[in-house]
Amino acid sequence: MHWSSYADDVVVWAPAKVNLFLEILAKRPDGYHELATLMAAVRLHDTLVLQNDPAGSLSLSCTRSDLSTGPDNLVLRAAELLRQHVGQTRGARIRLVKRIPMQAGLAGGSTDAAATLLGLNQLWKLQLPIAELAELAAKLGSDVAFFLHGDSAWCTGRGEVVEPVKLGRPIDLVLLCPKFGMPTPAVYREVKVPAEPVNGEAIRSAFEQGDIEAVGRLLHNRLQPAAEKIDARIGVLFQQLAGTGPLGSLMSGSGSSLFAVCRDEADAQRIAAELRRGADAGEVEVHATRTCG
Ligand code: C5P
Repeated sequence: MHWSSYADDVVVWAPAKVNLFLEILAKRPDGYHELATLMAAVRLHDTLVLQNDPAGSLSLSCTRSDLSTGPDNLVLRAAELLRQHVGQTRGARIRLVKRIPMQAGLAGGSTDAAATLLGLNQLWKLQLPIAELAELAAKLGSDVAFFLHGDSAWCTGRGEVVEPVKLGRPIDLVLLCPKFGMPTPAVYREVKVPAEPVNGEAIRSAFEQGDIEAVGRLLHNRLQPAAEKIDARIGVLFQQLAGTGPLGSLMSGSGSSLFAVCRDEADAQRIAAELRRGADAGEVEVHATRTCG
């Protein structure tokens, strides 16, 4: 995640993520699931512009009118949590330029929350270390901390235990994002904990070596069958994406987005064009993108 400051403003670029591997290891007594996941940030991003508010209040505005800008928004929850944590009385006006589809398994809300923590840390000159911000991040959501640590990581626990992983070479991707979202808690309720979990070591090592053919072959998401059971359109879109001939395709996180691992940028453009031709523009969004870093 990158930020920059200009005059009195701080700008943060908040990337989306995809899960190239996600396995469920156990159901926990607190209702969450123990998991192992390989996450990679992608170039599709939201932008946050943060300015001091001399009146000391916190406010949010957004380019999308269907997103709540009230205290339930993760951006304002992150700002309030940080303010309480440091006993800060200063305020901020935050402008969110939203591009990442919502309820899409791309962690749009989580990346905005992480960007808020990072951005306010700069704006208010708090100088909190990343480890301290990561503790706050974990209180906001399972995958918020990922965005504080770099561009790709192996995440365990609820998803908040983040071990950075270096990507051997950038991966070109196509995102197929249906206009309908998937409710994350419902998908987790439906998931079956496997008796024999798939081991992610092979895809992790292919990812580090930049062996994208192997990455495409080894994609795995335990949440996908659960999401397909809740909404059969996920399975239909998955077949459509796989039919374009990428190296591999998968649902990201708890859905509803699907992504394809492509050979190179030209392959991604070809697949994106094929999907746009075949799709009803009112039903899906298609993005050709690339991993960050
Ligand atoms: O932590 P977050 O708010 O992103 O999680 C949303 C929901 O997803 C949780 O309330 C829970 O139902 C489910 N979840 C889970 N196990 C995880 C992460 C999320 O069961 N590791």
